[in-house]
Amino acid sequence: MNKAKGQINIVLNAKTMNHAIKEERSDGINFEQHSILRDIQKELDQLIGLENVKKIVKEIYAWLYIDKMRKENGLKSNKQALHMIFKGNPGTGKTTVARLLGKLFVQMNVLSKGHFIEAERADLVGEYIGHTANKTRDLIKKARGGILFIDEAYSLARGGEKDFGKEAIDTLVKGMEDYCEDLVVILAGYPAEMDYFLSLNPGLPSRFPLMIEFPDYTVDELVNIAKQMVREREYELTKEAERKLYYHLEELLERREKKFSNGRYIRNVIEKAIRKQAVRLLHEGRYDKKELTLIRDRDLVIGS
Ligand SMILES: Nc1ncnc2c1ncn2[C@@H]1O[C@H](COP(=O)(O)OP(=O)(O)OP(=O)(O)O)[C@@H](O)[C@H]1O
Ligand SMILES: [Mg+2]
Repeated sequence: MNKAKGQINIVLNAKTMNHAIKEERSDGINFEQHSILRDIQKELDQLIGLENVKKIVKEIYAWLYIDKMRKENGLKSNKQALHMIFKGNPGTGKTTVARLLGKLFVQMNVLSKGHFIEAERADLVGEYIGHTANKTRDLIKKARGGILFIDEAYSLARGGEKDFGKEAIDTLVKGMEDYCEDLVVILAGYPAEMDYFLSLNPGLPSRFPLMIEFPDYTVDELVNIAKQMVREREYELTKEAERKLYYHLEELLERREKKFSNGRYIRNVIEKAIRKQAVRLLHEGRYDKKELTLIRDRDLVIGS
């Protein structure tokens, strides 16, 4: 709907594309020469699904690299802004991906520092006339050289014309232009709210040429995220625990709870299970290495 001309719309989880994308990713690229790409892909591989994010990161790398080669050969640079819009429900990986992009942009000399500043409405909008512009400008200054990630960006449009949110948007756009060489701004939020926000601010979509959609994870992806989270913490789900989690998620997603928090929900379940397991082991007096790693179905406090 609110797509500016030339804006790229990427929808993740396109399962049928997974195979083709994987093939394309390694196909014939000399990773010795492109170690930056190899390293970032390694980090992205830690993330379950998100195939189209993985694809666009490669696209951004290729484009920056070729632009550099063109410059070295005396050709015109094709520099484009890298500001982005991330649309997705909570816990779909937006913050995780934005942090990774910061790293990539430093290595590619797009950003000088690559630090990550996460902000929300209250960090930009002030309470009296003149306050907002200063607040927003200060934030932009802090973010210079890195990524300014504005979560629930649509809330800047709250309150209508008289609200200072509009002033924040105008100051932000001005700052993006002033520091376009060394700042990447990402606006993030729920899909429907972001669409509405962009429709109220027709000047914005063209300033954010990259739009990435983060759909909700499937049950399989959520279970894989859980398995990965326990593996990282040196635990393991028993088959029964995995099954219990799977059925619980299936039921939960069927009910389509409105603001289901995807990866964040899984992380909470796992952290709770780890605490529950600790108490169980204390009661059972079992401290052998195997048992210390196992999350059993009764450790999963779900379904209530
Ligand atoms: N694809 C994935 N693979 C593995 N872990 C994931 C994935 N996506 C999200 N997670 C995990 O889920 C949690 C939430 O992710 P993240 O904070 O990036 O989501 P978000 O979209 O920024 O959420 P919010 O909108 O609530 O800020 C983190 O612990 C993250 O590591
Ligand atoms: Mg986040």
